[in-house]
Amino acid sequence: MGLKMPLEELQRVQQMLNTIPFMKSLTQPEIQEMAFQLTRRTFKKDETIIKQGEPGTLFYLISKGKVVVIKEKFFKKILLADLGVGEFFGEMALIDDFPRTATVMGAEPGEMYTLSHDAFESVLLKNPQVKELIMQTAEDRKKRNQALEA
Ligand code: CMP
Repeated sequence: MGLKMPLEELQRVQQMLNTIPFMKSLTQPEIQEMAFQLTRRTFKKDETIIKQGEPGTLFYLISKGKVVVIKEKFFKKILLADLGVGEFFGEMALIDDFPRTATVMGAEPGEMYTLSHDAFESVLLKNPQVKELIMQTAEDRKKRNQALEA
């Protein structure tokens, strides 16, 4: 496995992962392995991070700031959710192998960590509890969206 980031950054990512509730089931070696695979990215207010309808390539974990999730349907824009620190997005297109179901934009300047599709799949494969939580969250979000879009 290649070291993509300096040690200091790696420790910072590990600390960040340790504060995320859905990572609680992971051991420290597992947290470290995941930290190795993450890439840090910043976002600006109003920046489009994910565009509805495009193919999905990355999974995102918010480490600073907030994003909004917006769905365009019949020329209407529906606000589906606000997401903040410790929350994730971009899981649906990767799980279902389907285009992005909504647009995600920066609500304020922030920072996030991304996982490639392959790394996301290997994390889920190795960590059944994380897989369960992400799948369950995706299902809950879909149900909520059906109600909001009705
Ligand atoms: P994906 O479809 O890959 O890209 C858009 C993302 O928005 C989607 O994955 C989810 O991560 C996120 N999303 C969609 N609906 C909701 C919701 N109701 N609450 C939180 N996030 C959502």
